[in-house]
Amino acid sequence: MEFRYLGTSDLRVSAVGLGTWQFSDSWGVQDYEAAKAIVETAVRAGINFFDTAAVYGHGLSETFLGRALRELGIREDVIVATKLPGEFLSRHDVFKGTKRCLERLGTDYIDLMQVHWPPLWNNFPTCEYMRALEELVHQGVIRHIGLSDFPVELVESAWSCLSTEDLVSDQVRYNLVERDAEKEIIPYAEAYGLSVIAWSPLAKGALTGKYTPENLPRFDDVRRGSALFHPDNFSQIYEVVRLLEEIGSRHGKTPSQVALNWLLRTSDSVVVIPGAKTPGQVEENAGAAGWSLTFDEWLRLEQASSRVVISRVVW
Ligand SMILES: NC(=O)c1ccc[n+]([C@@H]2O[C@H](COP(=O)([O-])OP(=O)(O)OC[C@H]3O[C@@H](n4cnc5c(N)ncnc54)[C@H](OP(=O)(O)O)[C@@H]3O)[C@@H](O)[C@H]2O)c1
Repeated sequence: MEFRYLGTSDLRVSAVGLGTWQFSDSWGVQDYEAAKAIVETAVRAGINFFDTAAVYGHGLSETFLGRALRELGIREDVIVATKLPGEFLSRHDVFKGTKRCLERLGTDYIDLMQVHWPPLWNNFPTCEYMRALEELVHQGVIRHIGLSDFPVELVESAWSCLSTEDLVSDQVRYNLVERDAEKEIIPYAEAYGLSVIAWSPLAKGALTGKYTPENLPRFDDVRRGSALFHPDNFSQIYEVVRLLEEIGSRHGKTPSQVALNWLLRTSDSVVVIPGAKTPGQVEENAGAAGWSLTFDEWLRLEQASSRVVISRVVW
């Protein structure tokens, strides 16, 4: 496993973490023992970084993750990141929402508290919630503050509200076929010492090689109606998948491992948090770190993925 520090903090996380949105009705892992087996396998494979959120399964993901870490006796050995949704950002709800996260996780501290998305329909002033998060650091309840789905302009305004703490990360969509993060947020993060936590790093499974244009299931999970799996988009993605397979075969690696390695090699500021529905998937994903694509392979993937144009206008 490779490790990277989040921002300028002392949080030393595995470059491949585990996203645990999968522990929810949205993705389907709703059996506690199944979730625990995934967490246990992740830790055995060298992963020490776990991402969850208050909204995942309305708290189910936090509850399963926290219980698994307690039962395995490893809470102190790992880094737990959770999130408060954009609706919970009034001053009193930042405190109340964090208390609920702590209760569900069964812990007395959160390593990284992220603002899940900027408030959209509520008129919460940015400095009100950022200042409340800073007070939680002073209370020892959260160790560090991060953002999620914030564009550069809003990262700057949120960061400017902090007086004693630094922001450490912004969590954004980033994978080989959805690379908009490279336009602004990644260069900004590199310049100002932020980490970029890449969500959907496998394009919700589209890059794993198990789906083909002839074998696209009717998803009954969060992917139902997803633009990624619309035939117009997926037929382009599949060209990249075939290249991932070809390059992977030279290294004894799977398409998923190559796709994740490409992200890690593109920027030292990036860490990835693929979700997993089985222990086998998390074990495989951990194998994305600790080796390197050649420059020629990296470039072929860069060029092939640059030709992909994902349109969300699919209806
Ligand atoms: N901040 C945000 O707004 C935000 C948004 C989305 C996600 N996230 C975070 O990012 C994490 C990951 O993103 P994501 O869940 O959207 O998608 P993802 O990591 O791109 O894809 C995960 C899915 O791909 C399949 N998969 C994973 N590893 C595989 C492997 N080795 N072989 C074959 N299939 C594999 C599994 O689904 P199947 O087996 O069913 O195909 C799995 O559920 C989430 O868990 C969450 O923590 C954050």
